[in-house]
Amino acid sequence: MIIAIDGPAGSGKSTIAREVAKRLGLRYLDTGAMYRTVTLLAMEQGLVPDRISEAGALAARTEFRFVERPDDLTRVFVGEREVTDEIRGRAVSQNVSAVSADPGVRMVLTDKQREQVAMGNLVLEGRDMGTVVAPQADAKVFLTAGVEERARRRQLQLEAQGAPQPFDQLVADIMARDEYDCGRQLAPLRRADDAVEIDTTNMTIDEVVDAVGALAESKRARKWSLSRMVRSPLDTWLYRVAYTIIPPFCRLFFRMRVTGVENFPLCGPVLVACNHRSNLDPFFLGSATPRMIHFMAKSELWRFRPLAWVLGKMSAFPVRRGQVDRQAVKQAFAYLEAGAVVGLFPEGRRQRDLPLGEIRPGVSLFSLREGVITVPALIRGTDRIIRNHILFLPRVHVIFGPPLEIPLDDKPRSERAAVTTQRLVDALLELLAAHPEA
Ligand code: DC
Repeated sequence: MIIAIDGPAGSGKSTIAREVAKRLGLRYLDTGAMYRTVTLLAMEQGLVPDRISEAGALAARTEFRFVERPDDLTRVFVGEREVTDEIRGRAVSQNVSAVSADPGVRMVLTDKQREQVAMGNLVLEGRDMGTVVAPQADAKVFLTAGVEERARRRQLQLEAQGAPQPFDQLVADIMARDEYDCGRQLAPLRRADDAVEIDTTNMTIDEVVDAVGALAESKRARKWSLSRMVRSPLDTWLYRVAYTIIPPFCRLFFRMRVTGVENFPLCGPVLVACNHRSNLDPFFLGSATPRMIHFMAKSELWRFRPLAWVLGKMSAFPVRRGQVDRQAVKQAFAYLEAGAVVGLFPEGRRQRDLPLGEIRPGVSLFSLREGVITVPALIRGTDRIIRNHILFLPRVHVIFGPPLEIPLDDKPRSERAAVTTQRLVDALLELLAAHPEA
């Protein structure tokens, strides 16, 4: 999934792109920071204003490193040197338009940005994302806002950084930059024909994030139809083979439906917590999920040698039920740490009579790990497949709910764990109520 966000200076691109990336579990790239960094280095090397044509070679030699911060501008490094604050200063802002209009600089940075696009799962923001860098993006957004509103936002930002500037000066700077960015010959700031334009002048950040998030989710729901697997280096060959065979089988014989797949992050660590009605649940849950799941499964299954081999090759891992199994916990953490998906059935065992069994509090152990997104999932229909040793073909429905909101870490851990477990219970009950048995 690639989301391209363009717009003029101060239209809110960075904040919106970062929030949307966080919400959808995508990576985030601030391409303006790349142009700013090259500008800073070019100024230091005396290339501005007369030798800008040499800045392309400088850009090619520059090794950018970005460190994302959840609630602030990305930290930018050139090798070991941090330039995060310097590149936002007035001197750089005044020269960046001229440097970014240079064809050599644009060619080099466009290539570097396309390398990131090729890796997938990215929100990228700048001036020419939807038109030049990623014209194939799944969702394109063009953000605008009145000049005065943009100057006001910039003023607040600079004040927060302890470097206030007069309002009139900011208005003049922004107007000059608009003129330059829109008027240049190469990759001028322009709305792509298929971009959705959002005027953010009178909108709050949350409202804009909601609008962009909804657009992206609708595109993603259309794009990730059943049985398209997003690959990762941790996938095993047997899982990939199974993924080409089992989902079509589930669709054909059990008319399997999947709802809410857009709630599933396409990268980063995810915990899927699903209700449990049948031993067949992992097949359906695995078939409905766009990424490989590393299942935590009861250790009894490993007693039967051939099954143990298959489970190992599918990179499932055993858990001893009814006790604290440190090895299983360690394994689950290792997968999450590596950015993979871990699947578990937090009721501990299959439920026959209750709509939802008691949720084990241990599940919060994983949900509270930083960066882990917990997705509640509900399976309907699998308990009716085998009854009295006879095979039936009922309809199966898998539903993914929105990721759980995890309490902030300013509260004691035990309290956060209890709240998280309760939120999972509430989420599963809500899914049960919203999707009654067919
Ligand atoms: O988004 P920003 O204000 O940090 O961008 C700084 C400058 O970089 C902007 O004036 C134009 C230039 N830029 C560009 O030409 N193309 C991009 N994709 C991103 C930024």
